[in-house]
Amino acid sequence: MKALAFNSSPRMGKGNTALILNPFLDGMREARAEVELFYTKKLKINPCQGCFNCWVKTPGVCVQKDDMQMLHPKLREADVLVIATPLYVDGMNGPMKNLLDRIIPFAQPFFELRDGHCRHPLREGYKHGKVVLVSNSGFWEMDNFHPLLVHVKAICSNLGGEFAGALLRPNGESLKPMMEAGLSLDDIFQAARQAGRQLVEEGRMSQETLDVVSRELMPLDKTVHVVNKYWRQAIDAVGVK
Ligand SMILES: Cc1cc2nc3c(=O)[nH]c(=O)nc-3n(C[C@H](O)[C@H](O)[C@H](O)COP(=O)(O)O)c2cc1C
Repeated sequence: MKALAFNSSPRMGKGNTALILNPFLDGMREARAEVELFYTKKLKINPCQGCFNCWVKTPGVCVQKDDMQMLHPKLREADVLVIATPLYVDGMNGPMKNLLDRIIPFAQPFFELRDGHCRHPLREGYKHGKVVLVSNSGFWEMDNFHPLLVHVKAICSNLGGEFAGALLRPNGESLKPMMEAGLSLDDIFQAARQAGRQLVEEGRMSQETLDVVSRELMPLDKTVHVVNKYWRQAIDAVGVK
């Protein structure tokens, strides 16, 4: 099984997205999947120009010369696509959207009806692989991920991919301070790893496992108190009035 993962956090391997993504990918590797990880920050991916040349003049090929050329064969061959993004303004962040906009050459311009809905047929040779979402948010509630989930599921429906589930970590900014305070969050990281193994070995991730990834870190009112204290101190420390 070939998995292709993109982490679009500008903090790359040091961010909170990576705290969940990396054990998940380790679990996939343990189960003998071939995993490749890219940080969008290290890639040169221009925004789509909307010229539709990839649909008419150069079918399947974008006129822009950047890292998408290197990524296209990998995307074509991937059995699993892992979309890992921090939650930004209630959705995926800009670099991830930029990347996903650039997969439009995979589709043909024609409309076809799938389950009574207009879709673009994919070009020959593209797999209808699985898609996994990994995300983390600043806010505490799980419902903050709702718009992102709807979006990623819509992308799967459009491209004929199979939405295989999501590893969602609310209140992700509290992970590191809690670990620094000596609290064990190992169950969360073990669950992320287990989800990776499950996906490869069983073709699915159990809801029970995914629920551990998302489990409460602190009660809501305590979180509000701790977060506000942290930001008050950070602002006071630089002396801004
Ligand atoms: C520009 C920006 C927008 C954000 N928007 C949201 C948001 O809408 N909802 C939320 O819960 N967190 C939001 N956050 C918080 C991030 O999701 C959070 O800091 C996350 O842990 C960052 O992950 P990373 O360390 O992998 O980059 C935002 C952060 C930034 C910088």
